[in-house]
Amino acid sequence: MANDALIAALKATNVAVERVLDPILAVPEGYEAQVVQAMRYSVLGGGKRLRPLLVLASGELFDVERSHALRAAAAIECVHCYSLIHDDLPAMDDDDMRRGQPTTHKAFDEATAILAGDALLTLAFEILSHPSTHPDPNVRLELITALTKASGHHGMVGGQMIDLTAHDHDLDENAIYRMQQMKTGDLIAFSVEAGAILGHASKDARQSLHGYARDLGLAFQIADDLLDVEGDVEDVGKATGKDQNAGKATLVSLMGLERARQQAQMLSDQAIEHLQAFDTRADLLRGIVHFAVNRTH
Ligand code: IPE
Ligand code: IPE
Ligand code: MG
Ligand code: MG
Ligand code: MG
Repeated sequence: MANDALIAALKATNVAVERVLDPILAVPEGYEAQVVQAMRYSVLGGGKRLRPLLVLASGELFDVERSHALRAAAAIECVHCYSLIHDDLPAMDDDDMRRGQPTTHKAFDEATAILAGDALLTLAFEILSHPSTHPDPNVRLELITALTKASGHHGMVGGQMIDLTAHDHDLDENAIYRMQQMKTGDLIAFSVEAGAILGHASKDARQSLHGYARDLGLAFQIADDLLDVEGDVEDVGKATGKDQNAGKATLVSLMGLERARQQAQMLSDQAIEHLQAFDTRADLLRGIVHFAVNRTH
């Protein structure tokens, strides 16, 4: 799949996900309006929407109804944006720019940013538990269970804890991979899995997709770490050079740019190999891999 087509697919996904989230995030009349404004600020109008596209691409393999996939995609984007709001807080990475605009705690204040993150996380489960996400409650429960694992201390939150304490632990290659798997890979894996859950995919198909998503997630975080060193601030929309200044443990800091690039390439080849059993309907998933490692933002 050509890069232009993939960029068009991401743009279309952005429009579709915002159409789901906009009415859900209607600003209320009361004094709580500020937290909803901060949620809207963080979740609407920015971001690549790679995770939502993964849900749609995986769902297409199993003829999932688009409206169902879009609600799961919206839920994942809520968790992702919550993780970004909190990741940017002074107590964590202390960043002022995100997606080309001031971070949520800069645009509002720290307390509002913390609450907006909390509410986005909760909203994700509200969206998944609603019958319009899928008529079968078992499917909804399976989605909810998988998202709890991917986002909590077994997954994203656990990975963020390792990231923030890495300077005390001298992580080796395997430990860095494990951290990346948890902090970034698990939510990416859930995005792919959500399509499979909604589509009642076979065990074999799920296993192949899990292998695909695992390698994609690792390659994606290496690309993020490379962009922190080599990226153009305008393109990436966030400060660069932060990881080295903060003494972050990344594959780039451990093995250097060239070897980290090779690892990302190797992982992306591996990700595509996991899709062998799928025909051309998986071309979108294949295209996403190329985009994830060659992106400039
Ligand atoms: C950034 O994720 C944080 C990581 C997990 C590396 P993205 O690069 O997907 O951020 P947006 O959504 O496009 O802004
Ligand atoms: C963040 O990783 C992963 C999250 C779970 C938010 P980074 O800290 O490297 O993400 P950026 O570079 O700030 O987007
Ligand atoms: Mg971080
Ligand atoms: Mg950060
Ligand atoms: Mg980063």
